[in-house]
Order: sequence, then structure tokens, then C-alpha cells
Amino acid sequence: RIVYVNGAFVAEAEATISVFDRGFLMADGVYEVTSVLDGRLVDFAGHMARLERSLAELEMAAPAGREELESIHRELLARNGVTEGLVYMQVTRGAADRDFLYPDGAAPSLVLFTQSKPLIDTPAAARGLKVIVLDDIRWGRRDIKTVQLLAPSMAKMAAKAAGKDDAWMVEDGFVTEGTSNNAYIVTRDGAIVTRDLSHSILHGITRAAVLRLAREAQMRIEERPFTIAEAQDAAEAFVTSASSFVQPVVEIDGTALGDGTPGPVARRLREIYVSEAL
Ligand code: PDD
Repeated sequence: RIVYVNGAFVAEAEATISVFDRGFLMADGVYEVTSVLDGRLVDFAGHMARLERSLAELEMAAPAGREELESIHRELLARNGVTEGLVYMQVTRGAADRDFLYPDGAAPSLVLFTQSKPLIDTPAAARGLKVIVLDDIRWGRRDIKTVQLLAPSMAKMAAKAAGKDDAWMVEDGFVTEGTSNNAYIVTRDGAIVTRDLSHSILHGITRAAVLRLAREAQMRIEERPFTIAEAQDAAEAFVTSASSFVQPVVEIDGTALGDGTPGPVARRLREIYVSEAL
């Protein structure tokens, strides 16, 4: 596999990053994951806009402009022959002598790699996800897409240990989001409910696209927090992310939703999203 590191396309075994890189020492870095369907980048402009926002919030220099980042994405896809899968892009503040203060003038590090994998035909999309419920122990700026991912890793491990697929996280009695996706319910009277944007959740690029498509399809949307009790009583539930598009949730903390199979709203939104992306 060919990866991109700081200006060069190299074999993954040849790629190097400094041990003083602040991404490595302090999780001082941000990232984006963009999906690829039929060889094309999905929602790329949205991912670029969010990267720029994450960088600005952390006063981090951009490693390159939008057009250059896009051409690096395309070249890496071509070199690895990826037609369906993901591109991961990470920007860190770069290498500097270890200090909590941001260093002056460090050159940002830029790393990209690809993962070829089926995104459309997946068992999880057909079957639906079972989720456990956990306290949200992450930091207070989840709107910045940083590489500090230990809390979601721990949550996914807990889900796996419980024989489930994923976790929904709760803060002050309300669902924030999934470990690596935004969370939604569909009420019995047909409204799509998802938490409103704030520092508490990542502003999902797939979320923005799916809400736009739902509005265009005349579906009712409520952007507000919801509880686990409301979710367990809902007609259906689902999650969205670049890596899963729209994925039905069929069980929350041991309670099956409806008849325990993917619901019609989630299935329809997945179809609409994928057909627009293709
Ligand atoms: N995760 N919430 C969290 C905490 C996430 O990590 C993600 C994405 C999302 C969905 O955002 P988007 O629709 O822009 O992918 C929401 C990526 C896919 C990951 O970490 O692999």
C-alpha cells in the first residue's frame, strides 16, 4: 500500500514520522475520513470545510490548500486502485521539543492512507446494529475532530465484550452520539430526531447531507437532545458517518426497537444517500 507523508508518496514500510511529533506525543492533531464510492470522493467539500474549522479552533497551520489536498487524495486513490473504501487524512501540529505550549513555527505533519473495503453491501447495514449505552467520558470539544480516540476505543471494546456492535454515549441524561457516528431516532409519529449541533458532538458531514435529503423528501426533522428511554420507545433508530453512511440500529441497551429489524426510514435514507453519492 502506498501512503502519503509530508510531501511524498511512499510504500507504507518506508513512511516515517518524528518521535517528537505532537500528534504522537499529545494527540495534537486532527483528521478527516472521506468515503470513496465508484472511485469518487463523497462529500469532499464538507470534509475540507470541517478540517479548516478544526485547524482554526486549534490555531494550527494548514499543511496545504484545498486544491492541493484534493489532488493528493485523488493521486493516492489512483496509486492504490481504490474504487470503494475510505481515505484517512491526518494533520498534526508537527515535531517540536516536548512542551505543553504550542511551539512557534512548527511545520504541520500531513499523513494520508487509504483502506479498500465494501461500504454499500455490508452485513451490518442489512442486519442493523445493537448498541450498549455508556457515559460519555470524552472531553468538552467534541466538535473538533481530534485524534484523541481512546474513549471511543474503550467504548467499542465494551460493546464487543457485551456481544454488541457499538455504543451510544450519554451525558446529563441525553444521548450525545455514537462512538464514531451521529445518533438518530424516528418517533412513532414519524419525526426524525437528532441532537442539535454544539460543542458536545461532532458536526457530521454525513449528518448534514442526510438531513438535507430528508428535508427534500418532506420528512419531519427535530434537532434536539433525546434520552435513552425515548430512544427505546421509538419506532426506529439509526446512525450516520462517512464510513457507514446510514446504518439502522435495532437494539438499544437490550431493548429491541419495533420488531428488531431495520426500519423503513433508515433503509430509505440509506438508499437516497447512496444513490446521490454514486
Ligand atoms: N468518525 N461522531 C463522531 C464521534 C465521529 O467520530 C464521526 C466520524 C461522526 C460522523 O461524522 P461524519 O459523518 O463526518 O463521518 C460523528 C469517522 C468516520 C471515524 O472516526 O472513522
